[in-house]
Amino acid sequence: MERRRIAVVAAGLSVPSSTRLLADQLTAAVVADLNRHGIEVRPEVFDLRDTAHDVVNNLLTGFPPDRLKHVLDTVAAADGLIAVTPIFNASASGLFKSFFDVVESAALAGKPVLIGATGGTVRHSLALEHAVRPMLTYLHAVVVPTSVFAAAEDFGAEGLRERVDRAAGELAALVAARPATEVVDPFTLTRSFEELL
Ligand SMILES: Cc1cc2nc3c(=O)[nH]c(=O)nc-3n(C[C@H](O)[C@H](O)[C@H](O)COP(=O)(O)O)c2cc1C
Repeated sequence: MERRRIAVVAAGLSVPSSTRLLADQLTAAVVADLNRHGIEVRPEVFDLRDTAHDVVNNLLTGFPPDRLKHVLDTVAAADGLIAVTPIFNASASGLFKSFFDVVESAALAGKPVLIGATGGTVRHSLALEHAVRPMLTYLHAVVVPTSVFAAAEDFGAEGLRERVDRAAGELAALVAARPATEVVDPFTLTRSFEELL
């Protein structure tokens, strides 16, 4: 059976987090869809609040602490990414934006990405289109056409499931169509110990 890696980043600050809930629904739908394509997938899900201090340290020093480096490496090596933010002041949250400010510029190039957001009001559902999609397009990610916004009243209501499934189908189709991302071990690039020095 073929395999693919899916990374998931959720920038919710509350515990429990509605942003994480939406991320989990999107992840389950993407996994189910890839399974239908005959592809096995083990998603790796990260709550960015766990690395919030590390993100700030990376911004200040230019280097990611180990825990954040693991998240960044996982995102870079993934065949597809699900990125979900709460909407703060009609835009992505500061933590979500800062995280993508420390992602290596080449890490998302050509990578299929599904974007989602939660908010207090459906009036801000287009924040994904004017704030998040342009940022990821700038990073050369391939953002699927359907983005998923969920206000508090959308959870459990008609319509969200359909949008989740449509967006998940789009991400799964792109991930299935691409060869699995090759993870390059830097040590395999060298032929001798001298070259390592
Ligand atoms: C500082 C702040 C600003 C917010 N601004 C908005 C906003 O502009 N539009 C909106 O729809 N919701 C806004 N909200 C509500 C959050 O987006 C919403 O509660 C979100 O689902 C919280 O996600 P979480 O449960 O994962 O923490 C704001 C919340 C906070 C704390």
